[in-house]
Amino acid sequence: MKTLAVMSRKGGAGKTTVAVNLMLAARAMGVRAVLADADPMRSAHEVLKGRDEAPALLFETSASKLFTLAEACRRGGADLLIIDTPAAPEADVAEAVKVADLCLAVARPTYLDLAAAVLSVAVIQRLGREGLIVLNQCPPARSGVEPPGVVKAFEALRFANLPVAPTAIRSRLVYQTAFAQGRSVLEIDAEGSAAREVRSLFGHVWRRLSGRQPATAAGANDDLILTRGLGLAPSA
Ligand SMILES: Nc1ncnc2c1ncn2[C@@H]1O[C@H](COP(=O)(O)OP(=O)(O)OP(=O)(O)O)[C@@H](O)[C@H]1O
Ligand SMILES: [Mg+2]
Repeated sequence: MKTLAVMSRKGGAGKTTVAVNLMLAARAMGVRAVLADADPMRSAHEVLKGRDEAPALLFETSASKLFTLAEACRRGGADLLIIDTPAAPEADVAEAVKVADLCLAVARPTYLDLAAAVLSVAVIQRLGREGLIVLNQCPPARSGVEPPGVVKAFEALRFANLPVAPTAIRSRLVYQTAFAQGRSVLEIDAEGSAAREVRSLFGHVWRRLSGRQPATAAGANDDLILTRGLGLAPSA
């Protein structure tokens, strides 16, 4: 079993959005994923509580219980445990980082979010873990042209000393409407732009974690091509 911690010191960056969508995308792509809601706000629980299979998908927990929970998930046959963390002081999030094989630092393409991402990078590196930065709530590209703010964010993150996921998650209303229905964006429109970018991000994360493609591989993704078009080296 692999463990992914989704983190950001900045509130509202999109930790829960990324964690829940990745967990449901993973399951749709043949990976037995479960989610640990380690945020006392219980946002992931709020989203998923209406689903019949919620008890098998989601575990409400706290930082101090993460190690035990991870062991239980491993024994239970899960392939992937995703931890949704709070925008909390370092000590609370550090427990998730310690049990993680990969830490996903979520940031919007804004100055303050990028500054917060640098703090996450410091924690990940101090604890000797692997990390990946993912940009969320990026304005969509128009006619193949990236908005300047996204280009600047990718450029700034070159100096963050942590790879950046080649797939950016765009700001799209469907992320909000899906949550209101307790669903992922894949379950709203499996072929929509949001579903494609989530599948692409999951494919990248899963290759980093396991060295393998998911059983149902992610398709080609426009954003990946756009990122390459920026001349920015995508992470391995
Ligand atoms: N890519 C996106 N497009 C549109 N809306 C988004 C996107 N990502 C997140 N949101 C919205 O932004 C808000 C904050 O997102 P979310 O709750 O996932 O952030 P968070 O980092 O988990 O917040 P917190 O720090 O409170 O835990 C939510 O209303 C969510 O629906
Ligand atoms: Mg949250």
